[in-house]
Amino acid sequence: MSGDRIVVVGSLNFDLVVEVERLPSPGETVLGHRHFGNPGGKGANQAVAAARLGGDVAMVGCVGTDESGEQLLAALRADGVATDHVRRRADVATGLAVISVDAAGENAIVVSSGANGTVSPADVARAAGVVDDAAVCLLQLEIPDAPVVAAARRCGGLVVLDPAPARTLPAGLLADVDVLIPNEHELAELAGGKPSREVDTVAAQARQLGFGGTTIVTLGAAGAVVLRDGASTHVGAPKVDVVDTTAAGDAFRGAFADAMTRGADIVEAVRRACAAGAFAATRSGAQAALPTPADISNVLGPGEGRGGGLDC
Ligand code: RIB
Repeated sequence: MSGDRIVVVGSLNFDLVVEVERLPSPGETVLGHRHFGNPGGKGANQAVAAARLGGDVAMVGCVGTDESGEQLLAALRADGVATDHVRRRADVATGLAVISVDAAGENAIVVSSGANGTVSPADVARAAGVVDDAAVCLLQLEIPDAPVVAAARRCGGLVVLDPAPARTLPAGLLADVDVLIPNEHELAELAGGKPSREVDTVAAQARQLGFGGTTIVTLGAAGAVVLRDGASTHVGAPKVDVVDTTAAGDAFRGAFADAMTRGADIVEAVRRACAAGAFAATRSGAQAALPTPADISNVLGPGEGRGGGLDC
C-alpha cells in the first residue's frame, strides 16, 4: 500500500436541487420554494468528504467537456482531490442528478448517468498507479459494474463498497470487498426483507448476506450497526437539526475512509463517520454540506477533537 492514499472510483454529477414542502406523489406537481445547483455524485462526494478532512485522495471517473464537467473538476481540485484520472469526453454530457428535498430534509433523487455510464475497466487500468497501492479504495454503484469489479480486484488496500443505488451485485464482487456499507434500504434489497432501523433486525439481515468481511449498516439518525466476526456493535449518531440529508451517507463513507487511513479501529472510524454524516444533514446541498475536521469536533462536542474520545 502507498502511504495513506484513498482512491475513489465512481460517479460525478451536477446536482439540481429543488426545495419543496413535501415530495410529490406519482403524477402530482408541487411548487418548490427555491432551487440551486451544486457539485454532487456519490463518488465525487465521498472523495471530497475524505479530502476535506485532510485525506490524500485521487478520483477515477468521467465527465463531459461541458460546463458542468468543468465545475465538477474545479470543485474536486478546490478540496485537493487529484483529478488526473477523471476522463473528459466530448460525446456525452456530464452526469446530472435532479433532487427534491422536503421540509423534513428527506430527498428523492433521479440520476441521469451521462458520462458516468462510460467509465470502464480501461479507465481503472489507466489509473493503476493510484488504484493498485491505495490504502483505501471507495466504490459505489453509480457507474457500470465492470469498472467496480476491476477496481475491487486491483486494489491492494482496504476495499470499501457502498452498494448504492441498490442493485444485484455482480457475481464475485464481494469476494474482493473488505467492508460493505449499505443503508437499511440497500441492506433489505440485498438480503431480502423490509428496511428496518431496529438493531437486531438489521444485524440478522446483515448476517443473511453471508459476507465474510465487515458490514456497516448506516441508519441515519439512529447511527450505524457494525457486524464483524459474527458480533454486532451499535454506534449512535449525534443529535442534530436536520436540514437536508443529501450526501449525509457520502460524508459517512468519506470520513470512514479518512479515519481508517489514520489508523482508527473500525468502531472508532464509524463514530467519526456518524459525526460527519450528522453534520452534513445540517446543511443544504451535497459537497457544500461536507464537514471540515473542526465541524466534526463541534458535532462531537468538547474534548472530542481529532483523535480524541469519540463517543457519539
Ligand atoms: O448521495 C447523494 C448523491 O446522490 C447526490 O449528490 C446525487 O448526485 C446522487 O448521486
